[in-house]
Amino acid sequence: MSSPPAIRVSHLTKRFGAQVVVDDLSFEVAAGETLVLLGPSGCGKTTLLKTLNRLVEPDGGTIAVHGRDVRQLAPEELRRGMGYVIQQVGLLPHYTVAQNIGVVPGLLGQPAAATAARTTELLERLHLPAARFAHLLPAQLSGGQAQRVGLARALAADPPVVLLDEPFGALDPLTRAAVRRDFRELDELRRKTVVLVTHDVQEAFELADRVILLNQGQIQQLGPPRELLRQPASDFVRSFFQAERLALEMRVTPLAEVLPFLTDAAPAPAGAPVLSARASVQEAVALLHETQAASLRVAEAPATAVALGPLLAAFGRALP
Ligand SMILES: Nc1ncnc2c1ncn2[C@@H]1O[C@H](COP(=O)(O)OP(=O)(O)O)[C@@H](O)[C@H]1O
Ligand SMILES: [Mg+2]
Repeated sequence: MSSPPAIRVSHLTKRFGAQVVVDDLSFEVAAGETLVLLGPSGCGKTTLLKTLNRLVEPDGGTIAVHGRDVRQLAPEELRRGMGYVIQQVGLLPHYTVAQNIGVVPGLLGQPAAATAARTTELLERLHLPAARFAHLLPAQLSGGQAQRVGLARALAADPPVVLLDEPFGALDPLTRAAVRRDFRELDELRRKTVVLVTHDVQEAFELADRVILLNQGQIQQLGPPRELLRQPASDFVRSFFQAERLALEMRVTPLAEVLPFLTDAAPAPAGAPVLSARASVQEAVALLHETQAASLRVAEAPATAVALGPLLAAFGRALP
């Protein structure tokens, strides 16, 4: 027998007064999957996320986590099973960084020594050395540092499911990119089931296994980013991505699909940075930019040096 999905939402409905904010939604999240809830401001993303951990009680429908109805879970069980980063980070202002991270383990009665070790480990992994940061107060942190602490707090009790509401929302573009990269590279998040809310389409495409595009409390489309971009289910879906289409295409197009359009090929010079053919055009452009290399080598096609100009020209020809 196959195990149940990490999260199963059936006919979920939530109203505020006469307004239907979550409108009869059904979907599943597989264990280990990153599902992104995307949509315009006010479409119901935060409300939907909050029903998952019962911060909002729905008016109808059911939610099962690992096969168990959340209404039958005690609050401690729900907290142990689901980390949560709220939209405005929400660190407790009079608690230090370490105390903030230790809140849930403390509520769960975990031994202080184990929590301290876990806190140090998480801070190091998020590039916040404990010796420097553990004793600071939230007001002494930059926006990016506070977001990282919020993430550490959500992971402290090692929950199998993590809910994140616009976790990079309030950051400047450079900090946002840096925190997002740390987030992507955090090994332990790869193993977890993640539901992440954002209104940023680039962020959604960068992080999602699958995206739910919401509008007015309804699912407009659910699928991998590439499917939403290439096979939009409605005019709403098409127009939602239209302004950033080219950049999104760069994210969903692997080098393997562009290589056949790269004509006058020469081997990449020794020492050129290397990428897999599965890497996206966007990753190749970013790597060329970061390393300032004239060209890069595709591991599966060493005879073809990839320089920026020819890469972009070939990408243009490969576009559907
Ligand atoms: N507690 C509440 N009481 C009344 N209306 C609410 C409440 N929370 C959210 N809403 C309304 O529900 C809609 C969806 O809100 P929200 O889920 O926060 O959207 P999003 O996160 O997508 O921006 C909005 O119109 C908002 O004003
Ligand atoms: Mg919101």
